[in-house]
Amino acid sequence: MTDKAFACCDKAIGLFDSGLGGLTVLRALKSTLPHENFIYFGDTARVPYGGKSRDTVLRYSMENARFLLDKDIKLLIVACNTATAYALGELQKAMHIPVIGVIEAGADAAVQASKSKKIAILGTRGTITSSVYQKEILKRDPSIQVEAISCPLFVPLVEERFTNHPAARLIVQEYLSPLQNKGVDTILLGCTHYPLLKELIQQEAGEEIVIVDSAVTCAQLAATTLHRLRLVASERLGDCCYHVSDDPAWFKPLAEEFLGEPVIHVEKTHLGGLCRLH
Ligand code: DGL
Repeated sequence: MTDKAFACCDKAIGLFDSGLGGLTVLRALKSTLPHENFIYFGDTARVPYGGKSRDTVLRYSMENARFLLDKDIKLLIVACNTATAYALGELQKAMHIPVIGVIEAGADAAVQASKSKKIAILGTRGTITSSVYQKEILKRDPSIQVEAISCPLFVPLVEERFTNHPAARLIVQEYLSPLQNKGVDTILLGCTHYPLLKELIQQEAGEEIVIVDSAVTCAQLAATTLHRLRLVASERLGDCCYHVSDDPAWFKPLAEEFLGEPVIHVEKTHLGGLCRLH
């Protein structure tokens, strides 16, 4: 391996999300790839992305990617389902490093898991409206029946730490009600926040239902991508830097709760203005 390739392997993996939710992806990444360095950017000033238009989410995603690209990363992970749905293709075209998102691997895992060939996807309005999950699933198996449900109240429930609140159970019941008698055997959590509601969703959907977490499948895809491109870190690294676009004091305790570990330093970053990727 050349010196250049060696140095390249030891660069960090950059990932961004609209805010906190991408930390579920980071948690999965840290457990799958404990030797890697990570740079996390949470766009806490502009969250949520889930109800915003494609143009806006695309612009934000380009700016977030530019910020991480300037940190000399080796791989970019779009750790937000809405941003993956609206911007992954454009980012892959515009950037000179590999870029992966959370959708493809999640769709793959759901197709493999479903025996009844009836899959439900839960996501933000943007993700569901974009139909990207639906297309990725049908591309893999056109005979699958897909039930797509947007669940806009799930993100605020998680951000307000209402995951064990009776209101959360009622809302989960309401969103899952269209699935009654549909024969769905697999539910795909197509949003970064939803893994924090997984237990409740499992209880309400039934223990026999397979729940696919797109954060975990994305981490597995990241590991495969690094191996395929020979970009695996050559020595034990395992550091993580955190950047947010709004108050770090709000982010830090929630991030510690999401990750289940101390978050030492969070830096505030201003983004905005015209964006060029070259
Ligand atoms: N990160 C977003 C997603 O996975 C959820 C939060 C938001 O709406 O910004 O779609």
